[in-house]
Amino acid sequence: MNRIFSGVQPTGNLHLGNYLGAIRNWVRLQNDYECLFCVVDMHAITVWQEPKQLSASIREVAAGLIAAGIDPKRNILFNQSQVPAHAELAWIFNCVARLGWLNRMTQFKEKAGKDRENASVGLYAYPNLMSADILLYKATHVPVGEDQKQHLELARDTAQKFNSDYKVDFFPLPKPLIFDTAARVMNLRDGTKKMSKSDASDFSRINMTDDADAVAKKIRKAKTDPEPLPSSPAGFEGRPEAANLMGIYAGLADLTLDEVCTRFGGSPFSAFKQELADVAASVLTPIQDEMRRLLADPAAIDAVLRDGAERARALAAPILREVHDIVGFVRP
Ligand code: TYM
Repeated sequence: MNRIFSGVQPTGNLHLGNYLGAIRNWVRLQNDYECLFCVVDMHAITVWQEPKQLSASIREVAAGLIAAGIDPKRNILFNQSQVPAHAELAWIFNCVARLGWLNRMTQFKEKAGKDRENASVGLYAYPNLMSADILLYKATHVPVGEDQKQHLELARDTAQKFNSDYKVDFFPLPKPLIFDTAARVMNLRDGTKKMSKSDASDFSRINMTDDADAVAKKIRKAKTDPEPLPSSPAGFEGRPEAANLMGIYAGLADLTLDEVCTRFGGSPFSAFKQELADVAASVLTPIQDEMRRLLADPAAIDAVLRDGAERARALAAPILREVHDIVGFVRP
């Protein structure tokens, strides 16, 4: 059986990187797989979150996923903290994964920065919770952006070590699903950095909730170089901003990079930017309208999450019981 698990953190606005790198692919995959999509609120609190803002973000991200096309009836859509088995399996994985493995995680190094001693223990152990998210359901495929690749390798290593320590063939080794176009959307002000929620400048990213004017302004101000656009992807060498903006266009218009280069090769950035703003608005506006409609009824969003969590708990329970038996825990 092929089962998908993927997650997104409710730490502020969803941005175009989340949409093009992950959510848009989830919408396509929901036809071919049994899918669980999770708003990972327990991951979010590995760095400080204002409680009121966190609740609002959980609902906003859930609404964003539904508005983008995730069907909560066909799939399981829920927030992580409603399924305590994630934390229980994460503890067991804290005892399986090795310190040396976590020490190699680049995302911890980036997020903890220079003040490592002051980072939360949760931020350090975060990849084990992520392994638990996936393996609690024996998910076989995990659609993510490229930045999650290292975490997925750790999940595979953890599954393998559990199987070999306990001499069982229990956990599948989950496969990452990383798509070619827009797997890594970059910062609009610096094409060598990832677009992220945590960048101090709002001009570095396009939020899913930005209106057409804001999107156009951010794209106008996006960093460029003085050359006209290249007519093939080979021309991206040394031109990260051209690669990024044309990659975003390809993702939004559902074209290949070759097709975008054929269409815009030789044009100045200014003309292309106008087209990019138009296609971005045409994709985002209907999603925003639907998000607004959904957010007007928070109780309905809570009901969707409650229903998803119930179905997730039912899938997780027998798997966690088996894990307890394998480990040797005594239970009634
Ligand atoms: P998060 O919340 O940072 O991002 C959610 C998804 O969006 C993708 N993404 C991007 N893709 C392309 N370009 C970008 N600039 C960009 N920024 C983000 C991410 O790759 C991700 O797919 N640790 C995860 C959440 C998580 C998870 C899981 C994912 C928790 N448990 C289990 C998969 C399976 C995270 O922080 O994603």
